[in-house]
Amino acid sequence: MVGSNILTLALLVPAAVSSAIHPGAHRRQSGLDGFVKSESSISLQGILNNIGANGSAVSGASAGVVVASPSKTNPDYFYSWTRDAALTLKVLIDQFIAGDSSLETVIQQYISTQAKLQAVSNPSGDLSNGAGLGEPKFETNVTAFTGDWGRPQRDGPALRATALIAYGNHLLSSGKQSVVKSNIWPIVQNDLNYVAQYWNQTGFDLWEEVQGSSFFTIAAQHRALVEGTAFAKSLGESCDGCDSQAPQVLCFLQDFWNGTTVISNLANNGRSGLDVNSILSSIQTFDPSATCDDSTFQPCSARALLAHKAVVDSFRSIYKVNSGKEAGKAVAIGRYPEDTYQGGNPWYLATLAAAEQLYDALYQWKKQGSLAITQTSLPFFQDLDSTARVGNYTSSSSTYSSLTGAVQTYADGFFSVVQQYTPSNGSLAEQFTRDDGTAISARDLTWSYAAFLTASDRRSGTVPASWGASGANQVPTQCQGSSATGSYSTPTVGSW
Ligand code: NOJ
Ligand code: NOJ
Repeated sequence: MVGSNILTLALLVPAAVSSAIHPGAHRRQSGLDGFVKSESSISLQGILNNIGANGSAVSGASAGVVVASPSKTNPDYFYSWTRDAALTLKVLIDQFIAGDSSLETVIQQYISTQAKLQAVSNPSGDLSNGAGLGEPKFETNVTAFTGDWGRPQRDGPALRATALIAYGNHLLSSGKQSVVKSNIWPIVQNDLNYVAQYWNQTGFDLWEEVQGSSFFTIAAQHRALVEGTAFAKSLGESCDGCDSQAPQVLCFLQDFWNGTTVISNLANNGRSGLDVNSILSSIQTFDPSATCDDSTFQPCSARALLAHKAVVDSFRSIYKVNSGKEAGKAVAIGRYPEDTYQGGNPWYLATLAAAEQLYDALYQWKKQGSLAITQTSLPFFQDLDSTARVGNYTSSSSTYSSLTGAVQTYADGFFSVVQQYTPSNGSLAEQFTRDDGTAISARDLTWSYAAFLTASDRRSGTVPASWGASGANQVPTQCQGSSATGSYSTPTVGSW
């Protein structure tokens, strides 16, 4: 797979549209502030409603099981996806660390459930060689789902490791090393070993459709291996596969950049490659301590900004709800332009991700006290300000203020799109229609709510812990499609 041919893509760069910076660029829209606040509470409750055993929307689900949506028909999402669950728990864990102590019970129940799930034999395999960890979804009573599916999906173990490491590091900071060693490390160790062993094998992408190599999967895997190394070390353990494979995973990650954008899947699928996959990757691997590093596609990196533009622009002309909104104006975002699932509509989580990457970038510029425009990122900035030029602008300059103000306005614009198409009771489904923005597909999608919370936290400048991106951004000169064979053991979770 490493070095496989990348489809070349003719990027359609729209003619530069001149747009003056909105005079109130620095001021927050107060209508939006109110919405973000009230919808954040609705989102947190919406998540808890979808987690067993006490979630009001998912009766019958076992304790700690995160159900994707209460919807049982068209589509039937009454299952627990490893990906959705891990992304959601990362949000709950970050909220817990930020002070919401009421969330700890559900976090611990999730962890106990994951320990059981890791040992459940399923159509992807079992725990003896780790293959079963790549199973994408389970029944809500912690048994295997045995129907046909796009499997394996290799992002799940990495995302779960990232969530558990966040909680583990928090416990470590309060001196609970032995609890972390007995209740968290065994689960994380299996997941890290899985990543180190299987990262160079193909699987299905996060949308469960494309068999190949997915940028999101590889990016999430790199992050997990890097933070896994440090986590192991702080427990007096080791993760040899993490150390040996992380640089190679980073090496492979570079293959998805074709010079002008991220091609989200290295697969023979006839698509443009533009996919919100790349934006979700940037926010998954956002490191608040990192600089605008291209190799890890940090949110403020030139590559990630140009990819953001390409993905966002790909949805401008295809959705009626976006009509008349030229480059530089926020629009509704879907998964990828060729999508036809449930009508091929904008998704709440995709539109929120487009906002979140920009808030992350704003955080990084502010932290480093400057913003650089390179030849690569120039088209992104010129959409927001036609006078933008290549250069390095320190935070005391007026150019810095006007550019960051414009990015802030653009980011808020994606939130406003979500606000516009959120029903008055605040429920967030999976999608809203491309024609008139009516909510459609799975109702009360757990991941939509999780995406709302992360985007609103980043909007207010609340960021997660660093995962060590700056120490892991050196790309080896020669890529190798390697693998480290791991060992796997049945984890158990005792008392906390
Ligand atoms: C096709 C969709 O595109 C995919 O994302 C989804 O997970 C499956 N069908 C199952 O609903
Ligand atoms: C379909 C999405 O494509 C996939 O990413 C998700 O895991 C499932 N639905 C469940 O929400």
